[in-house]
Amino acid sequence: MFLFTSAEIIAQRLRPGRLMSEVTVLVIVVQRLKAGSKSKFAKVDERIYTILMEPITLLKEKKIILGVTGSIAVYKAVDLASKLTQAGAHVDVIMSDAARRFVAPLSFRSVTGRSVFDDMWTLEDHVRHVALGETADMMLLAPATANTMAKMAYGLADNLLTVTALAARCPIMVAPAMDGGMYEHAATQDNVSRLVERGIRLAGPTTGRMASGLEGWGRMCEPAELLAHVRLLLAERGLLAGRHVVVTTGPTREALDPVRFISNRSTGKQGLAVAQAALDAGAQVTLIAGPVNEAIPLGVMHVPVQTTTEMGDATLNAVESADALFMVAAVADFRPGNQSEKKIKKGETDEWGLAIGLEPTLDVLTAVRTHREKTGYPRVALGFAAETHNAYEYGRDKLLRKGLNFIAVNDVLADGAGFAVDTNRVLLLSSAGVVEEMPLLSKTAVAERLVAHVAKALNNT
Ligand code: CTP
Repeated sequence: MFLFTSAEIIAQRLRPGRLMSEVTVLVIVVQRLKAGSKSKFAKVDERIYTILMEPITLLKEKKIILGVTGSIAVYKAVDLASKLTQAGAHVDVIMSDAARRFVAPLSFRSVTGRSVFDDMWTLEDHVRHVALGETADMMLLAPATANTMAKMAYGLADNLLTVTALAARCPIMVAPAMDGGMYEHAATQDNVSRLVERGIRLAGPTTGRMASGLEGWGRMCEPAELLAHVRLLLAERGLLAGRHVVVTTGPTREALDPVRFISNRSTGKQGLAVAQAALDAGAQVTLIAGPVNEAIPLGVMHVPVQTTTEMGDATLNAVESADALFMVAAVADFRPGNQSEKKIKKGETDEWGLAIGLEPTLDVLTAVRTHREKTGYPRVALGFAAETHNAYEYGRDKLLRKGLNFIAVNDVLADGAGFAVDTNRVLLLSSAGVVEEMPLLSKTAVAERLVAHVAKALNNT
């Protein structure tokens, strides 16, 4: 059955516009094995549904045709149109007659602030379908009914939406929505496979309860998830297209006993923003994350880790073929010399309390440096330095000691910078000196600037 899994997102990224072949599947499996047995293509992390909309640089002024066909999932398409618009895209909605039975065009016009198209026979424009399809960056059919997908599979063009899909030169994505076994039906599967073979992207469907009360495949993806699919598609020609980028983030945890651990205050926000910015630049991203409570971006290969040793192993594995490493994680520098296998009881400590002997952990970047000297990978490495004073001197010293191309120094005590906030103030250094002294910016904006500097360095090597 054709389902657009996260593996396929990566596959399509490796070979844009191509149907996932057995070779591609093999590449993915090998990469997954290399990334460690615990790695997994990030499934939809439901926390993405609660993310508040903010402008997305990649979507700014992008022209998106949203084709809406007759399914009860149209109500979700209104939310999607709203999210795309809030993110900065220009959304032109084309509705089929059946779609208008579910929701009035006014709903879409109200959230997009633009005209809604539904009539092929109007005399207003010369050739509206060609004009819309020629100038768009992408076309998304959501919800896409079995009927409309069947028409597209055979090149039928009997309304403005199907005519535009036939005339469009931009990438097309379909988000199927249908009830009661229709998606699994051989006819639909046949049509979907024709569309995919032709380079049309598939977003979903998912499984669950449908309007009829039946359970099964055919639920349209949620709007936040569709937004992530749109992002992946639009990023394909980005600065990092075809590049493999490894990002580490979050804290690590070192166990004292089965219930206690030593860790730090990192929330992983900055590293997650770097992973998203690398995805938005078209990279294939491996995200090695310590325990974090934030949403994992859709489209990364997620390697969850706990300890510094696990983070070190996963990083050394992943950088073997990597173009760039962003070492954003706040790795624990020490761990208890002895880990008790049983919970340490209060009564077992002496009158002075509990003395914990700490031993140093692996310095991951130093290990990466040795690997790099032998293999040349990762080609570009960027580290972070958390400092509370003498940012420039300590940062420069770390850059040289750890053999990095760049170091992003942040003063964790500065207002609006550091742990658990959405902003950061970063001084970016290379061995040549200051690359950029950034003002107070959102972690997203910092991430985009860092990705742009690394992309430039990669393109110059
Ligand atoms: N780092 C690492 N392995 C460690 C500790 C840190 O790879 N065991 C990486 C971090 O991910 C970061 C960089 O090294 O990219 C600098 O981390 P930071 O905590 O600022 O510096 P430390 O190396 O821990 O040095 P110090 O404690 O002296 O500041």
